[in-house]
Amino acid sequence: MGGNHKTWEKHGGGGHGGGGVGFVASVAMTHPHAITDLSGRRALVTGGASGIGRACARRLAAAGAHVVIVDIHPEAAEKLAAELGGSAVVADLADLDGLDPLLEVAGTVDVVVNNAGLQHVAPLPEFPAEMFSRLLRVMVEAPFRIVSAALPGMYERGWGRVVNVSSIHGLRASAYKAAYVTAKHALEGLSKVIALEGAPHGVTSNCVNPAYVRTPLVEGQIADQAATHGIPPEQVVEKVMLDRAAIKRLIDPEEVAELVAYLCGPHATMITGTHLVIDGGWTAG
Ligand SMILES: NC(=O)c1ccc[n+]([C@@H]2O[C@H](COP(=O)([O-])OP(=O)(O)OC[C@H]3O[C@@H](n4cnc5c(N)ncnc54)[C@H](O)[C@@H]3O)[C@@H](O)[C@H]2O)c1
Repeated sequence: MGGNHKTWEKHGGGGHGGGGVGFVASVAMTHPHAITDLSGRRALVTGGASGIGRACARRLAAAGAHVVIVDIHPEAAEKLAAELGGSAVVADLADLDGLDPLLEVAGTVDVVVNNAGLQHVAPLPEFPAEMFSRLLRVMVEAPFRIVSAALPGMYERGWGRVVNVSSIHGLRASAYKAAYVTAKHALEGLSKVIALEGAPHGVTSNCVNPAYVRTPLVEGQIADQAATHGIPPEQVVEKVMLDRAAIKRLIDPEEVAELVAYLCGPHATMITGTHLVIDGGWTAG
């Protein structure tokens, strides 16, 4: 494993590869069944205590990484960190002035998964300005600060992976989700800039774009919409959430985590500045 790791690392930093670029076979080419091995790496996952973030934390730990769980909920974050042999940093990503301890830790990691997020649904004339700002702080400004803090270390080591958990709402809009759609579109832009600046240093940056995933965030929306529309929860899933999807089921958090791991693995060294959509055909129609 160690040998694979080294070759991959060298290739990963290949932008400065001094003549080897284009001739050095990637690990993925020489070892077609190479797996994502993150032993010796440190991965930071925001919103890691629940849903997609928790699945990502488990998947990256299974790949060998020391995982730093960042979350606003201390008990859940610390419990998962203990389970995974990782560590927890408790932070409210909406409180940008309180992020210094987190940014210090961010400076030590090789993988950043910007995942923390929240939703607020309201028509524009009634959308609370503070809620709009909160979503942008958590889902755009905090990722910017975390990545900015992480990049110098990644550059120094010549390897880094940034994965931004975007959404189909990073590519398409839905009514009543002004802050969320704005934030996810902004995250797509930030991700591309990270890709351009990081490329010469062996750093890739990508988004993953799920449609509805079965997590507490969505369970809450199902309950709310069932109450609003006066229909049973199953009908909210079928008639509202899956209406535009070709495959009529919610996505599992583990399916998203697998994509995140893939983007950190040996077959993804040439994937950067783009997004991987996992939406059961939602955006195809
Ligand atoms: N569930 C879906 O259908 C879906 C679809 C597409 C994209 N996403 C995105 O996936 C990400 C994770 O969503 P999820 O469904 O797993 O949600 P979730 O509610 O299960 O988990 C979100 C996590 O983020 C944390 N968090 C929220 N605000 C925070 C803050 N201010 N500071 C620190 N941590 C905070 C929460 O405590 C929680 O642990 C979000 O960015 C969301 O937009 C979700």
